[in-house]
Amino acid sequence: MQEGKFSRTAHRVAIRRAAHQLLDQPRVLDDPLALRIIGSEAEDALRSNPKEDHAFSRAFRAFMAARSRYAEDELARAVTHGVTQYVVLGAGLDTFAYRNPHPGLRVFEVDHPATQAWKREQLQAADIAIPPSLTFVPIDFEQQTLADGLEHSGFNAKAAAFFSWLGVTPYLTREACMTTLSSIAKMPESSGVVFDFAVDPALLNPGQRIALEALSARVARYGEPFQLFFDPGKLQDELKGMGFHRTEFLQGKELNARYFKDRKDGLLVRGGLGHLMGASV
Ligand SMILES: C[S@@+](CC[C@H](N)C(=O)[O-])C[C@H]1O[C@@H](n2cnc3c(N)ncnc32)[C@H](O)[C@@H]1O
Repeated sequence: MQEGKFSRTAHRVAIRRAAHQLLDQPRVLDDPLALRIIGSEAEDALRSNPKEDHAFSRAFRAFMAARSRYAEDELARAVTHGVTQYVVLGAGLDTFAYRNPHPGLRVFEVDHPATQAWKREQLQAADIAIPPSLTFVPIDFEQQTLADGLEHSGFNAKAAAFFSWLGVTPYLTREACMTTLSSIAKMPESSGVVFDFAVDPALLNPGQRIALEALSARVARYGEPFQLFFDPGKLQDELKGMGFHRTEFLQGKELNARYFKDRKDGLLVRGGLGHLMGASV
């Protein structure tokens, strides 16, 4: 991220979720706030020219919808097991907290201070109310640990919590990423996390590598270059070593079977872009 500036990639991915609301039927992610949160200028631009037919744009949009849907599905499962705290790490313009359907669920939005300040302006401009169940926690993952950041926020570290971390790990140093994951692994039983990550280009096929290179070039232009890549198998071993007892790795094939089956519009997750991990304590 650029010093003192909000995350431009957070705006870009929120615009993709908004486009999904306008362009795709049925929706994989139903988000009635997705268009408002991106700001009236971006909303007007999207509404006046909603076409996004390029294969890369469609596949990327599909993954943006699927990763949020998977996080919210896994959260709902955690809530049925008694979890009452949800921590949205690197929240960007995520709208879950403002349409939270789970009575009694407290939500903590953790994000870089500059992005969080910008989000609060976006919320105000869109007239989206901040519910009493939500707490904002400004943290730079490179400067502060998650445990320290949450300490004075009202978060109960002795109770189970569910975490999502979408679209963030590729921008971090390995140390910041692994320190955060291992602090989640130390949470009480029934806790869990869902996050996505970039796969080591050497493990991708040529088509997937081209897609990843195109995305890497785009985010670098926004001043937020990718710097962290994983081997999915080794990452699962590391998560188990930290103390997570169950891990689930999903890429295009699994996501398409789960969320894009029997569609008439051919919307699918493709290429080397979509890699999601679920891990439970
Ligand atoms: C691509 S956006 C994803 C936002 C959101 N999770 C979503 O899916 O819409 C990346 C997010 O990571 C956050 N981020 C990047 N580096 C960070 C850091 N060092 N500390 C805290 N947050 C960071 C940005 O502020 C931004 O909100």
